[in-house]
Order: sequence, then structure tokens, then C-alpha cells
Amino acid sequence: MPAPAARLPLIIANWKMHKTVAECVAAAETLRSRSDLLALVDVVLAPPATALDAVHRALAGGRLGLAAQTCHWESSGAYTGEISVLQLADVGCASCLVGHSERRQHAGETNDQVRRKTSALLAGGLTPVLCVGETFAERRAGKTEQVVAEQVSIAVQGLAPAQAQRVVVAYEPVWAIGSGKAATPAEAAAVHQFIRRLLTEDYGDAAGGIRILYGGSVSPETIGGLLGQPDINGALVGGASLNVTTFLGILERAARGDSGASPLAANRTTPTAARSFA
Ligand code: PGA
Repeated sequence: MPAPAARLPLIIANWKMHKTVAECVAAAETLRSRSDLLALVDVVLAPPATALDAVHRALAGGRLGLAAQTCHWESSGAYTGEISVLQLADVGCASCLVGHSERRQHAGETNDQVRRKTSALLAGGLTPVLCVGETFAERRAGKTEQVVAEQVSIAVQGLAPAQAQRVVVAYEPVWAIGSGKAATPAEAAAVHQFIRRLLTEDYGDAAGGIRILYGGSVSPETIGGLLGQPDINGALVGGASLNVTTFLGILERAARGDSGASPLAANRTTPTAARSFA
């Protein structure tokens, strides 16, 4: 296999159901001004749907990417309250979360719906950020790999290697989300390596190009150790992305590589879709 080429860590801010349009735009403008960090880290903002258009305008011409938090798999139709991939592209989204555990839990999103959303996003030219992860009860029962394998393999079912390479996977243990207790680097790395092996079984070398992010209580204190692990290519950040100063702390550590290991060596995968978010 050829030596992996350089690729920047990817950090996604998931603002969930927080912030007004004005608050989103103000945060986006502050982050946009940090071109020093944006040269070293790929950064994507996922504001609430109400702010997508305004944030897109605020980011125009810069290096920050824009993501939606969910989508529908049909391109149009009588689906009250839903938003299609076409409509997300229309307001400047280049990527979209699918299968976030809060949507699985509160909106009943199933693995089959996640698969449909994933392929609709790819067909529409957007990057799916496929969220997977086990609950605490599933981990305690020794079912982590089984749950994650099912979530990943159903979502990518039927994708060709060239399509699969465009997917970003976010491993988010449900017990770590919003709990203030991130998985340890070793706990996260074990699952990331498992996901990489799983994808390699289906997609061979192409799996090396798939970014696998960690999510769940990522903070300025934990990001360095996580990014120091070879198969952790970035992070999906919720609570700690809401305050711009805290989020900048995460970006600074990701850019500098505070883990002891060099993150700009540890987080490399093949550069098949570099800058696909901006
Ligand atoms: P958290 O959320 O960083 O607040 O744990 C992460 C997520 O839900 O994506």
C-alpha cells in the first residue's frame, strides 16, 4: 500500500438546537477570521437549519465548511417539516450529519433510514457524516462491536468504493455524549480501528481514505490525546463548540498537536477528498 499522504484533522461543530441566527453568524465570523488555524485544521459548522443560509453567506469565500444536522432522503414531496438534500445544497451545505444518536432516540431514525439518507446525500454531491455508537448498556453487555458494525454496514450497503470514500464516519458512544466524560483515547481508538477494519473488508485500500471522527464530550483538554491515536482523524464537537473561545481552544490544540505525538502525522489518511467541505 502506498504511504498515506498528508491530510488535516477535521473538526465539526454540532450546534444542535442552540443559537439564534444572529448568534450563529457572529460565531461563524469570529471563526472565519482565524485563517492561521483554518490552514491547519478542516473546520465545518453545523448550525440549526434556520441559520444555514445566513451562515453560508457569512462564510462565503472562506475555508470553513457548512453542514446540516439532518435531511430527508426524497428530493421533494409531501413531507411536512423535512428538508431535502437539494434544499440543503441550495443554502450552501456541503455535508450533513446522519444517524446522530439524538435523532435515533428522539426522532426514531432507523438504520434503514440512515442508509437512504446516506445515499441521497452522495447522489446530491454532499458528504454524509455517518454517526454511530453504542449505549452504555450495550457496552456493558459487550455488544459495542456488534452495534457499531450493524450501524456502519447497513448505512454503506450498496455503495461503490468511490462513494464510500466520500463518507465521514463519526464514532460517538452514546454514554459519552453530553456527559462530560469522553471515552479515553484507548477506548475510542479500539472502536475506530474496528470500524477501519470493517470498512477495509468491504472497500480494501479505499477504506484508508475514509475519515473517522470521534464525538462525545470532546473538550480542549481531551482533544489532543484523542487526535494522537492513529485512526482518529478528527472530532464531532457538541457542547464545547457552543462557546467560540472554548471551540477555538480545541482548534488550537488540534492544529498544534498537543498529544505528545504529532497530530499532523497521526491523523493522516489518503487525500481523496481533501477540502471537500469548504
Ligand atoms: P457533546 O456532543 O460534545 O456535547 O458530547 C457531541 C455530539 O452529540 O455530536
